[in-house]
Amino acid sequence: MIALRDRHGRTATDLRVSLTDLCNLRCTYCMPAEGLAWMPREEQLTDDEVVRLVRLGVDRLGIREVRFTGGEPLLRRGLVDIVRRCAHDSAAEFSLTTNGIGLARQAQALAEAGLTRVNVSLDTVRRETFRALTLRDRLDDVVAGLAAAAQAGLAPVKINAVLVRGVNDDQASELLSWCLERDYHLRFIEQMPLDAQQGWRRSEMVTAAEIRERLSLTHVLTPAPGERGSAPADLWTVDGGPGTVGVIASVTEPFCGACDRVRLTADGQVRNCLFSTTESDLRSALRSGADDARIAELWAAAVASKLPGHGINDPTFLQPPRPMSAIGG
Ligand code: GTP
Ligand code: 5AD
Ligand code: SF4
Repeated sequence: MIALRDRHGRTATDLRVSLTDLCNLRCTYCMPAEGLAWMPREEQLTDDEVVRLVRLGVDRLGIREVRFTGGEPLLRRGLVDIVRRCAHDSAAEFSLTTNGIGLARQAQALAEAGLTRVNVSLDTVRRETFRALTLRDRLDDVVAGLAAAAQAGLAPVKINAVLVRGVNDDQASELLSWCLERDYHLRFIEQMPLDAQQGWRRSEMVTAAEIRERLSLTHVLTPAPGERGSAPADLWTVDGGPGTVGVIASVTEPFCGACDRVRLTADGQVRNCLFSTTESDLRSALRSGADDARIAELWAAAVASKLPGHGINDPTFLQPPRPMSAIGG
């Protein structure tokens, strides 16, 4: 077993695997209305290639958590099979980050295949706002997907929400109450400079401090007990009850020092950070017949060179060319 260590004392044990760059929503903070130039089929890892890399990561490189992402991973045909083959007799835990559309149909099969948890993106519970933010009228599908996930035991169901100034930033408390009533664990995420349009502006981002302030107008937030560890969310208990709310302050309170993540894109590139400007090409290695030892070596080298932080707050920061939808959340 080789550990995936970098030169700053961190070890990657959490693998995030993007299964497709396709998406059926058009969240305005993510991609343009017309969509993107999608990845050609032949550039994508096949199901067999994904399974081989995930199993190798777990068996030889100390990966203990695997999260499938997209784009929208439910659009990947064969997802249930991929989960089953990766999770069978595995030492790792398997979860999914999804926009929830189609989850109602797949939740039970995913749970039976070995998935244990889902995180669902939902920025508003108002139909009109949902349509304005995602450019699609699919709120009901997401709500049905959430219920099906809870029903299938994919718990705790977490919800990721991004606030966009002037669109849904006045709905933070409403969303929190809605989630508390249903026992969904809500986390608000600061918007990061990873949109395909490269339109992110620091001055427009709703900050973690602002999010906490807004929530405090309607709810009493108390720092949740317990160690945060490598989790991106800062957790708060709400109104003295059992429910919590998280705030992921990637920009204003970076947590890179405790990062334990490594990413694999749908076209087989290892990224050691959301913001890395370099990638390591495992797909070419796979397709030229490299054995497991060689792939493990390439993967370990990719993680070793991970930078100490994302650099968003440096004056020289440059947004990576690959957008969030093609990296995985
Ligand atoms: P849990 O295991 O449920 O805590 O999952 P998670 O929070 O790691 O996963 P999820 O896919 O739900 O990610 C939520 C959000 O956290 C993402 O959309 C990102 O905004 C942020 N995030 C995840 N990983 C990173 C990371 O490596 N760096 C930064 N800066 N943000 C991240
Ligand atoms: N900044 C922060 N979060 C983002 N997401 C998509 N784009 C961004 C961004 N630029 C969120 C989605 C989803 C998760 C995978 O990432 O809303 O919850
Ligand atoms: Fe799709 Fe996620 Fe981007 Fe929204 S944020 S368009 S759900 S990939």
